[in-house]
Amino acid sequence: MRLELPANTERFGANTFHHIQKVFELDGGYELDEEFSSPFHVIEQISRGRLFEIERDMAIIIPVKNERLRLLEGVLSGIPHDCLPIILSNSKRDPVDRFRMEQSMVDTFCRYAKKRYVIAHQRSPELARVFQDGSYPHLLDQEGLVHNGKAEGMLAGIALAQLLGKKYVGFIDSDNYFPGAVFEYARLFSAGLSQSRSPYSMVRIQWQSKPKIVDSELFFAKFGRVSRITNQYLNLLLSHYTGSETELLRTGNAGEHALSMPLALLLDYSAGFSIETYHFISLLEKFGGVMPSPFPEVMKAGIDLYQMESRNPHLHDADKGDDHIKEMIEYSLGVIYHSPVCPENLKKEILQELQSGKIIGKNAEPVSPRKYPALVNLDYEAAGRSTDWQRHGNFIPA
Ligand code: GDP
Ligand code: CO
Repeated sequence: MRLELPANTERFGANTFHHIQKVFELDGGYELDEEFSSPFHVIEQISRGRLFEIERDMAIIIPVKNERLRLLEGVLSGIPHDCLPIILSNSKRDPVDRFRMEQSMVDTFCRYAKKRYVIAHQRSPELARVFQDGSYPHLLDQEGLVHNGKAEGMLAGIALAQLLGKKYVGFIDSDNYFPGAVFEYARLFSAGLSQSRSPYSMVRIQWQSKPKIVDSELFFAKFGRVSRITNQYLNLLLSHYTGSETELLRTGNAGEHALSMPLALLLDYSAGFSIETYHFISLLEKFGGVMPSPFPEVMKAGIDLYQMESRNPHLHDADKGDDHIKEMIEYSLGVIYHSPVCPENLKKEILQELQSGKIIGKNAEPVSPRKYPALVNLDYEAAGRSTDWQRHGNFIPA
């Protein structure tokens, strides 16, 4: 892969937020070009060896809820062979058992591909046991099962990846129509993570475009409504502390992202569709230097956050309606609004945005989504000892 180096960065406490990076060539060539070791280069070549090294240690978590099997199969075909797919499904089991259909498709696929995999149902007692045995009750509901929601499935996936000794976790949605885009995301994860010298790093993908049909013509939109609004307020928050206006943050809602495991275990998480925006808030709260950090070793090592622009267009399952969009805006701005690092004047602007957009009522406040404490609090030894999830490398609840 050949990547443009980030043009500039913003520092916030221990966090370094890197400017968006463009992919020059998806494949960077077999030979390493000596010229790239010059301090004056603007393009970086990342060797195949380095990409494969990271992919061998990376789990790709795929959240699924009632998606078409053919889409999920396409996604699997785009995941590099050495990555471990962890399919975390919250699909219906009744009246038709969609989860069983997914299981059998994934099993057949991975048998042919001779590939290890993990599949678990979000609401299975076997998965819940990991959190009971590991003394992390936060993710469990009154029935003792993992809460519903996309973020909750993602958290369960991180815990499984840690139990399996993975060093990196990436996330790719299961409703993607282009296996080539999936492949590019996974490669961008390893290319992005390879740039960091800190054990704590994150990569977030900004889609090059999201094709839509407008007046029966293809139109390549860049930002959706939700991203535009989320990024605007995240940048205002950053500007408040740095004292200069910025447009650096472009990935406030990036579903496609990857983390080094040490960072994935230290962040706090927020429920449902607010999880991606909350990554930034958790980074600012815990490592921004505004509030005391519970992890001084991270303050020393620093955190790298890379944003990368993919070359493939992103085409996923048809838009899920205006209510879904409004909910996403409310949740994304809600986590900014309710953070102790959010200044009063920004709170006022957020209220105005939500009220004038008729997303919340007059005099109402945005919701404050449920929070989950860092997954480092889970006792992995206890969770791993008492469950048989690791048999054959698969975790398939009966
Ligand atoms: P959008 O792309 O942001 O509009 O959201 P989607 O509805 O496409 O959801 C993103 C991904 O999360 C898709 O792969 C869904 O199948 C999956 N997903 C949605 N809700 C849940 C859930 O409750 N649990 C799990 N495990 N996955 C979910
Ligand atoms: Co989608």
